[in-house]
Parts: sequence; C-alpha cells; structure tokens
Amino acid sequence: MSRKRIVITGGAGFIGSAVVRQFIRETDNVVINVDALTYAGNPESLAEARDHPRHVFEQVDIRNRAELERVFRDNKPDAVMHLAAESHVDRSIEGPAVFVETNVAGTQNLLEASRAYWAEQDAEKRDNFRFHHVSTDEVYGDLDPDDPPFTEDTPYAPSSPYSASKAASDHLVRAWHRTYGLPVVLTNCSNNYGPYQFPEKLIPLMILNALEGKPLPVYGQGDNVRDWLYVEDHAYALRHVLEKGVDGRTYNIGGRSERTNLEVVRAVCATLDRAAPDSEGAYERLIQFVEDRPGHDRRYAIDDSRISDELSWQPRERFDTGLEKTVRWYLENQAWTERVRTGAYREWIETNYGHRGALI
Ligand code: NAD
Ligand code: DAU
Repeated sequence: MSRKRIVITGGAGFIGSAVVRQFIRETDNVVINVDALTYAGNPESLAEARDHPRHVFEQVDIRNRAELERVFRDNKPDAVMHLAAESHVDRSIEGPAVFVETNVAGTQNLLEASRAYWAEQDAEKRDNFRFHHVSTDEVYGDLDPDDPPFTEDTPYAPSSPYSASKAASDHLVRAWHRTYGLPVVLTNCSNNYGPYQFPEKLIPLMILNALEGKPLPVYGQGDNVRDWLYVEDHAYALRHVLEKGVDGRTYNIGGRSERTNLEVVRAVCATLDRAAPDSEGAYERLIQFVEDRPGHDRRYAIDDSRISDELSWQPRERFDTGLEKTVRWYLENQAWTERVRTGAYREWIETNYGHRGALI
C-alpha cells in the first residue's frame, strides 16, 4: 500500500493507541491522531509513536464540528478510522448523557465533516476514501449458553446505554453510506485485553487490585461469558479491514476465546501467583462476589467466518499467552498505572463499588 494519511480518532485510548503504534511501527503511513484526552486518553500510551515524524497529534473533541473541519482541511486524509468513544458500560449506567453526546452526536459530526471533505476531492481520491467505524459486539444484545454466535446479520438488541449509543452510531454510518454514498466499512469486535487498558475494565482492575491485596469484585455469580481478543490482534484486524474490506460491509471480529468472568479472574490470579507470588497466599483468596451490573448481558460470542474467509484474518494470540504478556506488562509498567489512577479514578471506584458492598 502506498503512503496514506489516516485520521485515527481515539488514538490515545487503549485500542486506538495500539492501532497508532502498529501503523507507525509497521507501515509508512502518516497518522493524524484526533483525541480529546478524556480520563481514558493518555499520550503516554503512544510510546515510541508519540514523537515520531509520521504522527500528528490533534487534541480535538469530536463533538466540535468546526475543529473537525479544520483537522480535515489541514491534514488532507485518505481515510478515517473512528475509535473515539465513551467505552465503559458501568459508567454509561451511572451517567448516560455523555455516551449519547460523544458516541452518537460525535459520530454524526465526524460523518458530516468527512462527507464535506470527501465531496470536495477529485474522483480518484473520492473513490479511494474510506470511513472505518469501529464498533462492538454488544450492539447485538446477549446470547443464551447454547445460542449460535453473533453473525453480521444478527438483529440489533443493545442492552446498556453504552451499547445503545454504539448501535445508534452504527446506524448513522450505514445511513451516510446509503444516502450520501460515503464509502464506509464497519467492524464489531468482542472484548479486548492487553497492555495500556484503563484499569476500570475487568482484567486490569483485577491485576492491580490483586497486587494491592484488595478484593477482586466479581459481579453476580461470575458466570457471564465474554469472548476475549488480544488488542494487537484487533489492531491487525482493523488494518486488514481498512485496506481490503468491501465497501459498505460489516465484519465481526472475535478472539475464539469464550470464558466466564470467574474463569478469567481465576486465570489472572494463577498468572500472578507465578509472576508475583504473594506471601499471604494464592490471589484467589481475594475474590469477592458483589451486586450484579443492572441489565448485565449474559454471553457474547462471535462468528468470525466472514473476516477469516474473505480477508484471511484470524487471531494469533492464545488467551493464556496473551494474558501472561498482559500481566507482565502491568507488573513492568507501574509508573503508567500510578499516573492514570488519579483522584478522579479513585472517585469512580467509590461510585461503582461502594454501593456494591465491595471492600475497596
Ligand atoms: P478507551 O475508553 O480506552 O479510549 C477512548 C478514547 O477516545 C480515549 O483516548 C478518549 O480520550 C477518546 N475520546 C473519548 N471521547 C472523545 C471525544 N468526545 N472526542 C475525542 N476523543 C474522545 O476505549 P477503547 O477500549 O480503546 O475502545 C475504542 C473503540 O473501540 C470504542 O469505539 C469502543 O466502542 C470500541 N470497542 C472496544 C472494545 C473493548 O473491548 N475495549 C471492544 C470492541 C469495540
Ligand atoms: O464486548 C465488547 C465490549 O467489551 C466493549 O464494547 C466495551 O467497550 C468494553 O468495555 C467491554 O465491555 P464489558 O462490559 O464486557 O467489559 P468490562 O471489562 O467492563 O466487563 C467484563 C465482564 O466482567 C462483564 O461481564 C462485567 C464483569 N465485571 C466487570 C468489572 C469492571 C466484573 O465482574 N467486575 C468488575 O469489577
């Protein structure tokens, strides 16, 4: 692929920063990183890409249409990968408004700024332009234990304010394709894990709590099932779809690693027992069952045959090896974790776990 200029929104977040690092490390492309730096965004997650000459950082909120238009004018991109979002289900339950503002209205702004820019380009640049919307498997709702996995044709049935806002954004992207002809691709992915994930999500929260001897708060019975994908595999999948995906198509992405939450937490504990043994005993002793998440989706599972058959993508990392790498990363990067756990983080922990009866 010849050198492209790619706008990546949310490029200072967990998945976005993995995509940016990969593009800088493995391609010749120029990355225009558009991120508002909310609590979830952190330039330190960009590592070697941060000061690279092919990395342009634009601290811009996608809710600001005029600023987005300036970014397009100044940077003349060939493609957009849209990852910026409010991404945490529990926060969407506590405060849904910002999820609608960023995930729905922000996506509409970005679509409009993209469309205005795209319409002004010459025929060749218009034909090659692409808007890649990065979404979640949660738009499909949840599954019973014996249901077949989600396909790209599974009807939408989102449960939480977060997943409803992502579902709305998916619909907007398809409408901009059908009504205005904007070239788009969409991806819906399962749960990611790996380095640089903000420690409000299950795996990093459990690692950091365990290392501090704090309780490991498992919602309900711990029998909800998620399908886990190592973040670098997701980043590869996104690059595959951006480059080779068919215009207007959706691709499901999954990790082929379904686990109950309790299995995941036990695996984290066992990995820590090997990597950082605690003189007080096995980390599993810290597991505590707490009040469930309202509307908690039971199970997600992905049928990835479209992306594997059409685009020859499949996950490379096994869950046990990916988890080992993740645990070791958190052990070796305690300066990063200390800096993201600010006062606001501690307030969130109190808000989310205080009422659940977890002794945090
Ligand atoms: P994250 O919360 O770690 O990062 C989100 C990034 O978006 C942050 O850098 C933040 O500063 C930025 N952002 C938030 N609001 C913004 C705004 N108004 N304007 C500009 N930037 C803003 O999220 P993540 O886990 O990396 O997820 C990235 C994308 O992938 C999201 O769209 C999410 O829905 C989707 N996704 C996530 C997962 C997962 O398991 N984490 C799985 C499937 C899909
Ligand atoms: O499926 C993709 C989605 O995965 C993404 O779209 C979301 O952005 C991402 O946050 C993730 O959503 P989940 O709600 O599945 O992830 P989370 O890490 O918050 O929780 C994973 C499971 O663990 C879920 O069943 C709830 C449970 N859980 C979570 C936390 C934070 C606990 O039992 N205890 C906890 O403290």
